[in-house]
Amino acid sequence: MTAIDYSERIPNNVNLAEDRRLRRALEQWQPRFLDWWHERGPQGYLDAEVYLRTAISVDAAGWARFGYVRMPEYRWGVFLAQPQPDRAIGFGEHAGQPVWREVPGEYRGALRRLIVVQGDTEPASVEQQCVLGRTCPSLYDLRNLFQVNVEEGRHLWAMVYLLHAYFGRDGREEAEELLGRHSGDSDKPRILGAFNEATPDWLSFFMFTFFTDRDGRFQLASLAESGFDPLARTCRFMLTEEAHHMFVGDSGIARVVQRTCELMRERDTDDVGPYGGLSLPLLQRYLNFHFSVSLDLFGSELSTNAANYYSMGLKGRFQEERIEDDHRLDSAAYPVALPEDGEIVVREEPALAALNERLRDDYIADCAKGVERWNRVIRSANIDFELRLPHRAFNRSVGRFAGMRISPDGRVISEDEWQRGIAQWLPTQADREMVASLMQPVTERGKFAAWIAPPARGINHQPLDFEYVRLA
Ligand SMILES: [Fe+2]
Ligand SMILES: [Fe+2]
Repeated sequence: MTAIDYSERIPNNVNLAEDRRLRRALEQWQPRFLDWWHERGPQGYLDAEVYLRTAISVDAAGWARFGYVRMPEYRWGVFLAQPQPDRAIGFGEHAGQPVWREVPGEYRGALRRLIVVQGDTEPASVEQQCVLGRTCPSLYDLRNLFQVNVEEGRHLWAMVYLLHAYFGRDGREEAEELLGRHSGDSDKPRILGAFNEATPDWLSFFMFTFFTDRDGRFQLASLAESGFDPLARTCRFMLTEEAHHMFVGDSGIARVVQRTCELMRERDTDDVGPYGGLSLPLLQRYLNFHFSVSLDLFGSELSTNAANYYSMGLKGRFQEERIEDDHRLDSAAYPVALPEDGEIVVREEPALAALNERLRDDYIADCAKGVERWNRVIRSANIDFELRLPHRAFNRSVGRFAGMRISPDGRVISEDEWQRGIAQWLPTQADREMVASLMQPVTERGKFAAWIAPPARGINHQPLDFEYVRLA
């Protein structure tokens, strides 16, 4: 077991103690991070003691410990998965060569860009979620929110470490900028669209952690294949933490669905709004919104950048190692849905150019599994309703379908039909007000808001009425 030394100011397993320059640089960045946390992080709970997990090792077995922590005292650190001996680059023009331990000069700009774009999403989500604590449905959920928040903060540390350690002065400047852009800021917004959307309520939070954190999972998984070994190792460990974020979304929506179904049965009505529930059609509209903005995060269907990142050996495919082909893709083809003459057609395109679409396909398949779990909850309540992922072309702002009018079932439609349908397809103002009206805080131990069912079990084998957050 490679324990992490918590007596250091910045806990790490990268030998910071022996790299004085780097340690000093990160120690100078640390107070700026803390200022940012106070200004833009979770509002109103700086003194609360939260039952959080903290990484103590990067071994798969027993990597975390749980205990009460005040969030500003959380020990954000730098943890990389253990190097694999003799690891070789798994794809692209350099396939088979030893992985890089330093930045390859000719790819410096591309690599820095990949790290900055990933790094930008981490603090963005903390900013998006900063007011949710005030309306938590339970102490259990409040603790999960804060766990996600501190770990997204640590993911920022992970990317800032790479920038500082491997990119010199421009890396340091980029690290500053990661705290200079803010979610939704009109002058200096975050880089990607979904990370500038508001997360004003807990339904949005659960949808975000399900759909948008899952985009993160797929991005991290393809960066974990990188030929630049420090990036691969960083992302491998981040994925360990990320699993919990998706659990929060997946189980959060399942609990909402369960509660809705209970209310429908008890009251014998589809319209559970008057009884303090979130109706299934409303959940479907939120799902449509969060799925479509998350699909945009994968970028354009056909992309030279994606092709270059792959050929350079910087960003692989999801589970690259398990794919059986030449891992170069020079002459391979891949089916891509594209608009053509007012229709959506599937065409074989060069596989290299279609890598974004391939990752989007992997993502969609994974999302579908979650939706199926929610539908099982509905079916077991004997209710005739099915949640569905909308068509990939629905409500897109990035790529070939951007700005096109396409229905959730994948028909190209007129502006008229779009305007008539939109109130059934995307959250309306009335939906948002309805959801907001239910967001009353519940902070009594073991109690849960009426719009969400309790979880099946507590965190770290604790009971549901455990004091997950000790309010100051
Ligand atoms: Fe993250
Ligand atoms: Fe996450």
